[in-house]
Amino acid sequence: MANTYIHGHDSSVLASHRWRGVDNSANYLISVLHDGDRLLDVGCGPGTITRDFVRFVPGGYVVALDRTPTIIEEAVGGDTHVFGVEGDVYNLPFQDRSFDIVHAHQVLQHLGDPQRAIREMARVAKRFVAFADADYDRMLWWPSSPSLERWMQLYQAIAAHNHVNPNIGRELSSLALYCGLSNHQVHTTTWTYATTELVHWWADSWAGRVLHSTYASEALRLGLSSQEELTTLAQGWQEWATKPGAIFVITSIAILASL
Ligand SMILES: C[S@@+](CC[C@H](N)C(=O)[O-])C[C@H]1O[C@@H](n2cnc3c(N)ncnc32)[C@H](O)[C@@H]1O
Repeated sequence: MANTYIHGHDSSVLASHRWRGVDNSANYLISVLHDGDRLLDVGCGPGTITRDFVRFVPGGYVVALDRTPTIIEEAVGGDTHVFGVEGDVYNLPFQDRSFDIVHAHQVLQHLGDPQRAIREMARVAKRFVAFADADYDRMLWWPSSPSLERWMQLYQAIAAHNHVNPNIGRELSSLALYCGLSNHQVHTTTWTYATTELVHWWADSWAGRVLHSTYASEALRLGLSSQEELTTLAQGWQEWATKPGAIFVITSIAILASL
């Protein structure tokens, strides 16, 4: 059941995740957040979205939950409205209906049993359960690059070996229905990296991640790649970012289910 988290928490990964906030990653929730709400952020990672939620519930609180204990202190970040909890989405340490809203961003794609996770999140939610994931197979970039093509192929292979689904975004609405969440809306959020600054930031992130993150260690452990190839992929990312007009677009599908 415990799948390897194939990004891991290397600084190259966290540098990318720390860019996220409510406005660019969870804005579909803004209209349902009320002052005083109790919110649970499952798989909070470094917590930039988690802490940003406090803006919308200043009289309430946010619980930052992650399976990885070392990341929780950063997620709380000294904010007195945020409480850190180490825990597993499959077995949340809370009573039924403990939170007004339960949220998970880019988490289900890393789980071997996402339906069980959705049911467990719904159990501890009172008003809404919300989850969003990208769809790796539908990521879009230009110009084409053999290194980026191979990077994606390797990502899919590592995920398959770990029995997780990086293309889960397109399935979230049907998964919600299977889990009995019939009253739900489907939203999309898009991250567009098209300025020189953002393209280099994204490419630098992946140039680091293909060498130093769990992506790298899993690719080597599973015999799917070699250190030489990973070095080539890192260089390929850096070269791609120098191309005029380079863009990278990621679409996430988000589910907002009323209970
Ligand atoms: C891609 S990160 C997303 C972090 C954050 N939600 C964000 O979007 O910036 C996925 C997070 O889920 C956590 N995670 C993975 N499996 C988990 C599980 N079974 N229970 C709780 N957290 C889990 C990982 O440790 C990681 O911090």
